Amino acid sequence: MADYRDDEILVAEYQIDRGIDRVARQIASSRKNIVTDTPVILGVLNGAFMFTSELVRKLHIECYVDFCRVSSYPAGPDLKNQPQITCPPKIDVTGRDVYIVEDIVDTGHTLHHVLNLLKSRNPNRIEACALLDKPLRREVDVKSRWIGFEIPDEFVVGYGIDYAQRDRNLSYIGKVRFTS
Ligand code: PRP
Repeated sequence: MADYRDDEILVAEYQIDRGIDRVARQIASSRKNIVTDTPVILGVLNGAFMFTSELVRKLHIECYVDFCRVSSYPAGPDLKNQPQITCPPKIDVTGRDVYIVEDIVDTGHTLHHVLNLLKSRNPNRIEACALLDKPLRREVDVKSRWIGFEIPDEFVVGYGIDYAQRDRNLSYIGKVRFTS
């Protein structure tokens, strides 16, 4: 596992912890006066596995937890704007409030795609939250209502996010170190 120096760490473990606390409180308080069916927390795999598990631990509301799996590059980089849902959510979201949980919103295509899939299943409400938001890279107009951290246009890794499938298990967000 790569060992990142302090100056290569973009979001430290303690900051992530506080950020998720804040997002969890914001989501829970937004539901204070809502009396609908039990909401669904939907993590987008693989990257959001860690954020989703920590978020639901801190949420303290009754909820269902499900995941979907999306591949951004189903058939090579030429098709990068056409992510595919390789494993759709199992839970029936009809009439329910659904909260999409993304690790990072970059171009926005993945979130856009998941939003479209969910809309076709007639939920009551769809909201999104993301641990990281990289607005400078946006190609489609999608919004996450709750964001942990806005970050600059840097390649990042850790806390679920990989670089060539590595370093997802870092407990912090680091800047990818490109070695020549
Ligand atoms: C990453 C990340 C987000 C998506 C964001 O997933 O986890 O889901 O890209 O990028 P976008 O906003 O440009 O669509 P990736 O497809 O790399 O798969 P992974 O989650 O399995 O790592």
